[in-house]
Amino acid sequence: MQDVVLELRQRGIRVGVVPTMGALHEGHLSLVRASRECCDRTIVTIFVNPTQFGPGEDFQKYPRTLESDLEAIRGCGADIAFVPSHEEMYPSGFSTYVEPPSVGARWEGECRPGHFRGVATVVLKLFQAIPAHVALFGRKDYQQCRVIQEMVRDLNVPVEVRVCPTVRESDGLAMSSRNRYLDPRDRQRALSLYRCLSTAMEAVAGGQRDGRLVVEAMHRTLRDGNVDRIDYAALVEPETLQPAGHLSRDVVAIVAAFVGTTRLIDNAAIHVPE
Ligand code: PAF
Repeated sequence: MQDVVLELRQRGIRVGVVPTMGALHEGHLSLVRASRECCDRTIVTIFVNPTQFGPGEDFQKYPRTLESDLEAIRGCGADIAFVPSHEEMYPSGFSTYVEPPSVGARWEGECRPGHFRGVATVVLKLFQAIPAHVALFGRKDYQQCRVIQEMVRDLNVPVEVRVCPTVRESDGLAMSSRNRYLDPRDRQRALSLYRCLSTAMEAVAGGQRDGRLVVEAMHRTLRDGNVDRIDYAALVEPETLQPAGHLSRDVVAIVAAFVGTTRLIDNAAIHVPE
């Protein structure tokens, strides 16, 4: 893979990479299209990375749909699929991991210990295998994007990270491979995450500047929507992901909750006028 990409680069061809765990949906395909707009060749990686799943999480049952994934990425014009085996990514004796940056400490970092260590490690390995010019990620995993941006800066990885908008279903549900786990009743309840973010946006648009009160309203919306467990709902500073108290500049509303046994996350940028 390195040889292929280095040869493309030598020929002056601009390469984009879209790292995924497969079970592709419109969100992933929008990244392929964005890559095709800024690059001459697009490589999609498909690897369900065991090191980013905790014990008791859904690694075993994570949807594996390679044939339809390959068809989908071919259909939207990707040039190469990189589908490494477990042994290629984690050869016997593997013991080197990336310590994730501090922006990964809270929220997902607290709820899923070790998750960002696994993400940072596999993404750095993918960047090594595929020395692309541009790497594209979906904003739905906002904290993951920040972790990768910080890692790339801190470790001098020569790649431009592009964060592309979240793609939503027509009723607002953020597209996610895990939406496949939802039965029709849970699918309805899953909308509570989007409603929770809308609550925050409406409160701020209505002039509320007390972050705590906005967060209380976000929790109320989740409870009213009967989610099974709230991991967090918060307003955070966009760069540091520290909780925002008094709202005097733009923030990001973030939420993670369980609907049945399915854990979903979502986020939204909130503009706070001066
Ligand atoms: O967002 C994902 O699908 C994964 O976390 C990633 C970035 C492909 C690393 O396994």
